[in-house]
Amino acid sequence: MDEQILTQGRFAGWTFAYEGKAKRLYRSPEGDRYLVRFKDDATAFNGKKRGQIESKGIVNSRISSLLFRLLEEHGVETHLLEEVGPGQMLVRAVEIIPLEVVVRNLTTGSLSRRLGLPEGRPIDPPLVEFYYKSDALDDPLVYPEHAGLLGAAREEEVVRLRELALQVNGVLQAFFQQLRIVLVDFKLEFGRADGRILLADELSPDTCRFWEAGTGRKLDKDRFRQDLGQVEEAYQEMLRRVEAGATGRVASSAGMGGGGR
Ligand code: TMP
Repeated sequence: MDEQILTQGRFAGWTFAYEGKAKRLYRSPEGDRYLVRFKDDATAFNGKKRGQIESKGIVNSRISSLLFRLLEEHGVETHLLEEVGPGQMLVRAVEIIPLEVVVRNLTTGSLSRRLGLPEGRPIDPPLVEFYYKSDALDDPLVYPEHAGLLGAAREEEVVRLRELALQVNGVLQAFFQQLRIVLVDFKLEFGRADGRILLADELSPDTCRFWEAGTGRKLDKDRFRQDLGQVEEAYQEMLRRVEAGATGRVASSAGMGGGGR
């Protein structure tokens, strides 16, 4: 089932390269591109909680592609080359920088837990945090200065990552505001290619926190993390809204399709 070498169609000859918690990657024969296949598998707490979210792969691939395109239109370079059918994305090969860059507009999650801050307090200006990508160490929070010590990124790269993260935040905040969604926080990963830094990985309800404006209803992976129910519905709702926003049909997306059952 899980082929080591793809044998059919356009990607025949591409070889399996890597499997993460949410995606499988296949490398092009030239090594310059990857086919990313998004999985329905869901994990939380560094893989300690596991499950499946029906159609998540398709939803996350589509949302990521639309948001990457939006960012490209606003001058943020991403690894996206092409959306290639449900749940799949063609991307440029990059050298992933082993830092997770988190931007926070409202207090919640690990920030609230670590510092004892009440949930939902605005953070202005937004906070940018760096986590070292290491499953063995549980992705620890690090100072920007630690990035050099770890060999993760050079000082000037860290400055650039911060700048890019805030630029992404500005574009996404404006986009989601018109969809009546509060962009609470999100996680970015970046990669190096040809001396430039590109936005990589994904942008989806797995990697962002989305709260419905007015109601505060959570429309992201926290529904899975916290066993809140209606997980699939939340992902579908976000897909509906992002598609509406990306195609200029914002007004019709205001309803809560499906209601609060
Ligand atoms: P946190 O509050 O748990 O640190 O999460 C901050 C943001 O980063 C939130 O939008 C979820 C996202 N995130 C990931 O994408 N992957 C992760 O492994 C973690 C811990 C958080």
